[in-house]
Amino acid sequence: MTVVLIRTENERDYDQVYKVNYAAFGNREDEAKLVERIRATPYFVPQLSLVAELDGEIVGHLLLSRAEIVNGTECHEVIVLAPIAVKPAHQKHGIGRQLIQEGLERCRQLGYYVVLLIGHPSYYPKFGFKPARPLGLELKQFEVPDDVFMVCELKDNELLHIQGELIYPVAFFG
Ligand SMILES: CC(C)(COP(=O)(O)OP(=O)(O)OC[C@H]1O[C@@H](n2cnc3c(N)ncnc32)[C@H](O)[C@@H]1OP(=O)(O)O)[C@@H](O)C(=O)NCCC(=O)NCCS
Repeated sequence: MTVVLIRTENERDYDQVYKVNYAAFGNREDEAKLVERIRATPYFVPQLSLVAELDGEIVGHLLLSRAEIVNGTECHEVIVLAPIAVKPAHQKHGIGRQLIQEGLERCRQLGYYVVLLIGHPSYYPKFGFKPARPLGLELKQFEVPDDVFMVCELKDNELLHIQGELIYPVAFFG
């Protein structure tokens, strides 16, 4: 495992964060641009944009941002995880794990107890994520298989009173 410094992103990091996302996602800029669009909205929570620093270099980035679960006239504020990126040369050394653990801890501290994502079903369960649809949550904006739409409850029984459709903010749609 490579121990890294996990800290809040600041404006001076933006170039390096772009490059981390660009490289991690196979030299495409979709996710790097997604980060830029989310930063420009009220759904951005600065303390939940985290970088992993190693010897002064940014080698990883995690963005958690606000979204809503809507059920008729009820609306619950939740957090969505996307994207997470570790530079290819540093992958599989526990850096993603350190980013996610610190990110979830910060959500808890800020009083956000429900975190959702669309992601790899073999990666996220180790952090407490479970398929979301059997727990009463719906996703219609993206057509994805049941096992990739996941939720993590950071407080016992939090989902007992939160049901409905997850709505990703418009920033997610280019
Ligand atoms: C996904 C990603 C962020 C993981 O970061 P990482 O630093 O390589 O992950 P870690 O080393 O912390 O891995 C943690 C665990 O997940 C496992 N793991 C890592 N990548 C995995 C993958 N793609 N699929 C399944 N399991 C994976 C590791 O074996 C490790 O398991 P362990 O702790 O039980 O040994 C990184 O591989 C990456 O940037 N990938 C490209 C971008 C991407 O696909 N992002 C996710 C979609 S938003």
